[in-house]
Amino acid sequence: MRPGRVHGVAWVLAALTVFAGVGVTAGEPASPLPSKGLATASPAVIELGRALFQDTRLSTDNSISCASCHPLDHYGSDNQYRSHGVDGRLGETNAPTVFNAMFNIAQFWNGRAGTLERQTDFPVNDHNEMASSWPEVLSKLNASPDYAERFAALFDDGLTVTNVQHAIAEFERTLVTPDSRFDRYLRGDVEALTASERAGWRLFKAYGCSACHQGRLLGGNLYTRMGLFGDYFADRAARGDGDPSDADLGRFQVTGDPEHKYQFKVPSLRNVALTPPYFHDGATSDLLSAIRIMGRYQLGREIAPEDVALIGEFLRTLNAPLGTM
Ligand code: HEC
Ligand code: HEC
Repeated sequence: MRPGRVHGVAWVLAALTVFAGVGVTAGEPASPLPSKGLATASPAVIELGRALFQDTRLSTDNSISCASCHPLDHYGSDNQYRSHGVDGRLGETNAPTVFNAMFNIAQFWNGRAGTLERQTDFPVNDHNEMASSWPEVLSKLNASPDYAERFAALFDDGLTVTNVQHAIAEFERTLVTPDSRFDRYLRGDVEALTASERAGWRLFKAYGCSACHQGRLLGGNLYTRMGLFGDYFADRAARGDGDPSDADLGRFQVTGDPEHKYQFKVPSLRNVALTPPYFHDGATSDLLSAIRIMGRYQLGREIAPEDVALIGEFLRTLNAPLGTM
C-alpha cells in the first residue's frame, strides 16, 4: 500500500487535529514529546507527590500504593491483565500507564476524570483498588509527623485532600518519557529509524492507524468505538473469552448517550511494547496480535503478516529510556 492512499477518515481526523492545534510535525500526524512534563509546582511539592504515590497508607489496609499498580521502574504499568487491589480483589479493566498520562484529553478508558487531580478520587475509593476514603487517608497521614510537617511547610492550609491530590498530580506531570528513537526521527534525524522501522511507520499511516493514534501520544486525544467493523464483544463472548461487562460500555458509562456505547479513549502508544497486556480488557499480551485485532475491528481488514511485523517494528521505536524516574 502506498502511503498516499490513506483511509478517508484519516484525512478528516488529521485535518481536525491540525485545527485543534494538537501539534503535528511537518505534515506528520504525530509530534515529539517535550523534554519536560507539565508540572509547575516546586520540587518540594513534587517530591511530596512522589512519596504519596508510593505510600501504601492510601489503601484501607496499608497494603497497596498507586505504584503497586503503576510501578515507576516498570513504565507505570503492572503488566497484569487486570490489577489486584486490596485483598487481591480483581479490577474491571487493564491498568494503563501513568507515564505521559498528563497529555491525555481525560483520564481512564472512558474518560470519566477530567484532570489528574480528580482521577485520584477513584482508586482511593474504589472497592477493588484501595477501598479507602479521603477522611481515612487524611487521618493516617496526619498521624505521621513527617507528612504533617511537610504539608504545613508547603501549603497555607496544610494537609488537605486538595493538597494531597495536587501533589500527586504534579508528580505525575513530571512522568514524561521523551527521546524515543521515533522522537528523534520526528525532530529530523531520519537515520534514527532503520529502513524497516520507517516502512512500518509508513504502513501505520497508510492503513489508517494514525486516523485514531496521532498527536504527541499517538493516541490519548479522541474516543472511538471498539469494533467499528464487526462486533468485538460478541466475538469475544463466542470465543469464551469473557461476557460483556459494564466496563465494556466505555464512554456510555460517563455520558449515558447510546451513541457512546463501546467507545473508549484511544490509548497512547508511547512505550506500548513494554506495557502489555493490551486493550481495556487486557485481551492479549502479544503486540502483533493487538495489531491484527486493530486491523480487523477498527479498519475492517486482515493485515498481511509481513506488514504486521513491520508495524510492530515501528511501534518498538516508541520505547523511550526511563531516565531518573
Ligand atoms: C489496584 C490497582 C490500582 C491502583 C492502586 C491505582 N490504580 Fe490507577 N489505574 C488502575 C486501573 C485498572 C486503571 C484504569 C481504570 C479505568 O480506566 O477504568 C487506572 C487508571 C489510572 C490513570 C488513567 C490513565 C489513563 O491513561 O487513562 C491514572 C492517571 C492513574 N490510574 C493514576 C493512579 C494514581 C495516582 C493512583 C493512586 C492514588 C492509582 N492510579 C492507583 C489501577 C490502579
Ligand atoms: C478507529 C480508531 C482506531 C484505529 C483506526 C486504530 N486504533 Fe488502535 N486503538 C483504538 C482504540 C479505541 C483502542 C482501545 C480499544 C480497547 O481498549 O478496547 C486501541 C488500542 C490499540 C492498541 C493497544 C494499546 C494499549 O495500551 O492497550 C494498540 C497496540 C493499537 N491500538 C494499535 C493500532 C494499530 C497498529 C492500528 C492500525 C493497524 C490501530 N491501532 C488502528 C482505536 C483505533
